[in-house]
Amino acid sequence: MSDQTQNNVVFFSGENVPLEMHKARMVQRVRLLDVDKRLEVITQAGNNTFLLPNRDVFLDMLTDSGVNAMSEAQYAAMMLADDSYAGSETFYRLEKSVQDFFGTEYFLPAHQGRACENILATAYVKPGLKVITNYHFTTTKGHITRQGGEVLEVVGPEALKTTSQNLFKGDVDLDLLDQFVQKHGPEKIAFVRIEAGTNLIGGQPISLANTRRVAEYCKSHKLKLVYDASLLADNLYFIKTREAAYKNKSLAEIVKELGSLMDIIYFSGRKLGCARGGGIATSNKEDYLKMRDLVPLFEGFLTYGGMSVREMEAMSVGLRETLDFHVISQTPIFVEALGQELQKKGVPVVTPFGGLGCHVDASSFVDHVPQTQYPAGALAAAIYLTSGVRGMERGTLSEQRNPDGSEVLAQMELVRLAVPKRVYTLSQMKYVADRLGWLYQHRKMIGGLEFIEEPKTLRFFLGRLKPVGDWQEKLVAAFKKDMPTGL
Ligand code: F0G
Repeated sequence: MSDQTQNNVVFFSGENVPLEMHKARMVQRVRLLDVDKRLEVITQAGNNTFLLPNRDVFLDMLTDSGVNAMSEAQYAAMMLADDSYAGSETFYRLEKSVQDFFGTEYFLPAHQGRACENILATAYVKPGLKVITNYHFTTTKGHITRQGGEVLEVVGPEALKTTSQNLFKGDVDLDLLDQFVQKHGPEKIAFVRIEAGTNLIGGQPISLANTRRVAEYCKSHKLKLVYDASLLADNLYFIKTREAAYKNKSLAEIVKELGSLMDIIYFSGRKLGCARGGGIATSNKEDYLKMRDLVPLFEGFLTYGGMSVREMEAMSVGLRETLDFHVISQTPIFVEALGQELQKKGVPVVTPFGGLGCHVDASSFVDHVPQTQYPAGALAAAIYLTSGVRGMERGTLSEQRNPDGSEVLAQMELVRLAVPKRVYTLSQMKYVADRLGWLYQHRKMIGGLEFIEEPKTLRFFLGRLKPVGDWQEKLVAAFKKDMPTGL
């Protein structure tokens, strides 16, 4: 009997190929601009890949947020949406889907992950309070600091090493957690937050064993435990495939176990559930009531929370499909395939391979570019120039300056090449690796960037930069020598 919960198709040739268990029935045309045009476009975009129009992008690997391929069942469900302002049947279906998924009792809808963070931070964070987390996410930190709180991080030292053997780099260092709790006192801790599939350190998972220990610690110290489940699908794959104790547990059992350990769970439905929305789940009535009234204030009535009802229907189905091993394996096995191709060409990448995307180590790729000139931002611009591929800077540019104006130098300088679920093919991944291989051979030509317009908060979204010197023109000339068509 074949086991549909395992990757059990082995190629006779011995090749390691990420075999798809789906077929594409609707496609989107993409176009590849030549390198001269790409230089023009990236200059207009202020060397910020967020500001590129998608029409000028060949492969959009900016994010997996809201851009995963949806299933036919999700599209079909959208037709059933009930758009009543209050008491929509769609809400009750989604509520039931969330309850069945996490095993929790109450559900609050919100328009996306950061909206959940706004509600959580507004409800629980006060000036002077701390939030302890395995690692921060940009919008999470933004909401916590906006309320006057401070974020303290407790991943172990391996988490910040780009290459490592540690299969769960998102794990919490319990000694460090205890040190912070002893130092500040439990009454100063707004909550402890665990982020599944730790985004900013390379989509790295946290083990269920470690999650359980953190939950026990929080319980014994009367600390509220919050789970950011946005990247749970990837994390689930890694629990199932890397944690021996869970090899024979069903995905449904694993999610229920995780759900039972948390006081509050929130998620971006743009990632978890492959639709566009978000939500908060809890079994604690007091927490539910504390957050409930903020939903109509910030989001919309309690039965839609700012989401389109069609997306809510797609999310209900998407959550159920997250319990299908073939659905959740798609990103991790493609990340691994891309990572291995890049490694063959000497390109430094974060290991072990995580979820979300393949993370290129800019601090090694362009080790001659100082952190104050945003090496990861410069590399992301150079990748667009040489391939038309849009990645995302995850380094110093994604940090916020100190109040005195000095730079906060990021602990890692990464360019993320996100792999949205079921969107790209293996040949497209090979193209990415080919162009990055070329760029790696010409890496010394890459220079830094400097701001020409710098927003005060979340500057990476809308900031505009220019190259330091004329390195981009020189890089384009070198590219045309090797690729005379300019493509
Ligand atoms: N938490 C995590 C771990 C995330 O990765 C994100 C979004 C959010 C919260 C916020 O959710 O976008 O729905 O408001 N990450 C996206 C990304 C933006 O590209 O990694 P959102």
